[in-house]
Formats: sequence, structure tokens, C-alpha cells
Amino acid sequence: MLAEADALALLERGRIEIEGRLVDASNTTLRAEITLDGLTRRCVYKPVRGERPLWDFPDGTLAGREVSAYLVSRATGWDLVPPTILRDGPLGPGALQLWIDEPDETGALIGFVPAYDVPDGWFPVAAARDDDGDAYALAHADDPRLARLAIFDAVINNADRKGGHVLYPATGGVHGVDHGVSFHVENKLRTVLWGWTGRPLPDDACEVLTHLHEQLTGRLGAALEEHLTVSEVQHVSLRIKRLLRAARFPQPPQDWPAIPWPPI
Ligand SMILES: Nc1ncnc2c1ncn2[C@@H]1O[C@H](COP(=O)(O)OP(=O)(O)O)[C@@H](O)[C@H]1O
Ligand SMILES: [Mg+2]
Repeated sequence: MLAEADALALLERGRIEIEGRLVDASNTTLRAEITLDGLTRRCVYKPVRGERPLWDFPDGTLAGREVSAYLVSRATGWDLVPPTILRDGPLGPGALQLWIDEPDETGALIGFVPAYDVPDGWFPVAAARDDDGDAYALAHADDPRLARLAIFDAVINNADRKGGHVLYPATGGVHGVDHGVSFHVENKLRTVLWGWTGRPLPDDACEVLTHLHEQLTGRLGAALEEHLTVSEVQHVSLRIKRLLRAARFPQPPQDWPAIPWPPI
């Protein structure tokens, strides 16, 4: 495994060679190889030029939001978002993120399961039927790593936490990717991770959020302001304060589809 500082150095200074476009990707999302001093790794390269304008995210860039999500993740110490930076590349400036290898898909903690057979320790979060009319549940595990991701999403106001945006590397961690539609000032939280709704936040999470809130008044806040509007950065603080005051996992909003489509 690559230490975080080494991964950042590789991303910052490595030579990028594009491998191809990721098929299920919505914007221009490319997979590339990056090499520095004989070390080669894969990465995801999202050039700003490939971004389709989104009416509800008029400020800044999606790439800047990807980097902001990494900065917040790093400040929590939860290691949720793979190292992500902004730099120039073969198709111009863009977000560059370390590629996370997954051993296989059997480790997934989110998915559709038969409605009568939700695994022990899993939360059903939505009901669905397949073409034959059989009932399924969209469900996820009651896993502390996913719970941290759910709290992180509430902080960054992630509008697109689908199953496929959660990765399970062999190291045993859980990683979140694709944070281009985060940090809006209005509540846009759309996620499959609603299992803990209304439950108390774990004590250690409250400590982490308190520390995160402090960091926003210093270098973290300044770093985020390079990518987000001042108001968007203020709203990160506000959301953390609200989470700490309630000390509970957020409730789904009434006026917004709370689950992304497709959910997986
Ligand atoms: N850092 C990463 N490591 C491994 N796989 C990734 C990484 N980032 C994205 N992917 C995979 O590529 C897919 C497309 O990337 P994503 O960031 O979702 O792009 P888009 O913004 O175009 O939807 C993801 O759903 C995921 O399966
Ligand atoms: Mg995506």
C-alpha cells in the first residue's frame, strides 16, 4: 500500500498516461496510469473541460468539489476519500484521484436483496420490484465504516452516494468516490445510507466533528475556499454544528428524492 504522502507526491509530479474512458461514467472520467521515479499506479482523471454544466452547481468546478471532499475526509482522519488533487493533465486541469483496487465485488455492503431475506445486521432502506414482480429491498450493512461515510456525506452534503460510489479495497477500509455534486448550500443529501436515520451519532464521531469544525476556521477553511464559494464553506460549518446539536444521524428531506438513481 502507498503511504498518503507518497500517493500525493505521485499524483502531483507523476507523468500521466491516459488508458481509457470509464464506461459507466457520466462526465469525462478517464482512467490513467501515473508514473514517478519508476513507481506506477492507476488513477482517475476528470478534466474540468469534460464537465457538463449543471444548472444547480453554477459556481466553481466539479473537480474542485472532488478535491474539497478529499480535504474534508483527510481532516476527519477517517481515510474515506482516496488522495485527490487538482493539477494540469493531458486534457488540461482536472481532478486526479488515486485508483483503488477492489479484490472482488463480494465485499459489497450495499445492494438489492430479496425482501424476505434481508441479511441479519442489514437495514432495508427502500422497496423495489423486479420485472417479474418479485419484491426486493435496497439495503446496506450496519457497518461502522459505512456509518462514518454517512456522517461524512451529511457534512459535505453529498447529492450522489450510490452503491457504486463505495469501494471495498483489500486493506479492509471503505472508500467513497465521485463527490462532484457535493457542498451545495441547500440540503441535497441523496444517499442509500439512510439506515441509521434518527439514531444517536457515535461518541467518537462527535469528537471528530468537533475537531473538524475547529479546523474549518484555520487552514482547512482557507484550502476549501480555493475550490468552493465562501458561502459553501460557511455551510460546511453550519451543517457540522447542526449535526453536533442534534447528535443524531440526519433525517431524509421531504421535498427531495433522498435516494440517488440508479441507487447502485
Ligand atoms: N478512485 C477510484 N478507484 C477505483 N474505482 C473508481 C475510482 N473512482 C471512480 N471509480 C469507478 O469508476 C466509476 C466512475 O467514476 P465516477 O467518479 O463515479 O465518475 P462520474 O463522475 O463520471 O460518475 C465509479 O462508479 C467507480 O466504479
Ligand atoms: Mg459516478
